This record gives sequence, C-alpha cells and structure tokens, in this order.
Amino acid sequence: MDFVKLNEKVWDKNVETGYVWTQPVSSQEVMKAKNGEWNIVMTPTKAVPKEWFPERMEGKDVLCLASGGGQQGPIMAALGANVTVFDNSQEQLNQDIMVAKRDGLKIKTVQGDMRDLSVFEDASFDLIIHPWSNGYIDNVLPVWEEAYRVLRSGGVLISGFANPIEYIFDLKNLNEGKFVVRHKIPYSDLTSISEEELKELVLDQGEGIIFDHTLEDQIGGQIKAGFLIGGFYEDIGGSALDEYINSSIATKAMKL
Ligand SMILES: C[S@@+](CC[C@H](N)C(=O)[O-])C[C@H]1O[C@@H](n2cnc3c(N)ncnc32)[C@H](O)[C@@H]1O
Repeated sequence: MDFVKLNEKVWDKNVETGYVWTQPVSSQEVMKAKNGEWNIVMTPTKAVPKEWFPERMEGKDVLCLASGGGQQGPIMAALGANVTVFDNSQEQLNQDIMVAKRDGLKIKTVQGDMRDLSVFEDASFDLIIHPWSNGYIDNVLPVWEEAYRVLRSGGVLISGFANPIEYIFDLKNLNEGKFVVRHKIPYSDLTSISEEELKELVLDQGEGIIFDHTLEDQIGGQIKAGFLIGGFYEDIGGSALDEYINSSIATKAMKL
C-alpha cells in the first residue's frame, strides 16, 4: 500500500471537513505576532518555550516541516522570517497560501514527503519546526538525518511526536476508555492490526495510516543524526491515557 499517497488524500479531505490541525490562524493572531505577541504548538496544547527560538527571527530561514495547515508558518512569517512550508498535502499547503495572501505575508510552499528533503541544499535553514506528524511515516531516521543536513551550524530543530505508550493499547477499547494491552512497539497500522480493523478503525474514520516509533528512534535517532538535545517537555496526547500520563513529547535539538 502506498501509505504516503493515502495519507495525502486523508489530509486533503481533513481540510475539507475542517479537522483541527487544518484550521489556519486568524488575521488577528497574525497581527498580534507582528506586534511581538505570539506562540506556536508542536503538541496538542503547550506553547513552545520562547527561549527555544533564535532571539531575533527577522531574516532567519525557517523550514516548517510536515507543517501545512496555516498554523506555524504564518506566525513565523509574521515575525519576519523567510518561511518555507513543506507538506505532503497540497490542500494543507493551500491553507498557508490563503493566510499569506489574506495577511500580506511571504510564504514559500513545497509539496513532498518528509523522508526526502533533497529539494533543499545542505545548510540552507536556521530553524526547522516539525510539529506532530512523523506518526504518518514508517521510519523517522531519514527525517532526522535530512533535517541535520539542511540546517546550518548553530541551527535548531524543534519537534513534536508521540510517546509510544499510547500504541501498546487496543485502539477500539482505548477510544472507549478501556486499557487493553495488545501491541508491540514499533506499531504500524499496516502490520499490527487486521485488514478489517484497518478499514474500520483507520480508513473509514479518516485517520490515515499511522506508525508509532520507539523513543530510541525518536530521541536516540536525533542524537545519532548529530544533534544535541537541549530542551524537552511533555504534553497531553488527546486520548483516555491523559488522565494517567502525558503521551506527547517536544524536543529542541541543536546542530553545533
Ligand atoms: C497533525 S498535522 C501537523 C501540521 C499542523 N500544522 C500542526 O500544527 O500540527 C500532520 C501533517 O503532516 C503532513 N504529512 C503526513 N504525511 C506526510 C509526509 N509523508 N510528508 C510530509 N508531510 C506529511 C500532513 O499532510 C499534515 O499536514
């Protein structure tokens, strides 16, 4: 199955149905950002600490990686950064294009798969913003390697991703607030559940094909690619587990 193509269609459709991660920022938020009042998220609720960003954003080359939807890109552009938004879904990118036109911002958009950033030259960005999205690919290691390559020395990669604990549970039961341990990590919609379940739980409900990676691949993978981890926090994941444990993570990784 071509899961990248399928997930592209799912996200195009999500824009049509107004799913939360496709809803762009308002003109008022852009205006506030221009006046220095802003925040962005990598995980469901917590704002990324301001000290994770360069002190001055004007003129910085920023790549918003798998980050379409008109959310992080327009805020970075309102701060004066040169923003490129890269995403697999053209409809998600169209949200950024719409905000840019509406609010007089300059944003470049590129459609592609986050595992292959060969359209970008080595050392061409100062900052990469990578909100919760690597659950849509089967292998996160190429993303960390590519991010390292396209960042300049002194550059920063800010990422959000899932704590795999959520995926050890049977999804149908979890959605009903029941905890039934079932799956091994790494998890894959393509191999961890039956075809019937894939159709019912994943495709019919418009979730797309999800993978869940080990923390070794998520955090160890960034370190292996050459990064130094300089920031870490947790946030809710948006499931029944929230009552017991935060299941999303954000990291700040630095290329020295
Ligand atoms: C949860 S949304 C994250 C973007 C959103 N701006 C946010 O604030 O969280 C996940 C994004 O990942 C994108 N995506 C999924 N698979 C991808 C892939 N293989 N390469 C690049 N982007 C991908 C989707 O199109 C979607 O825009």
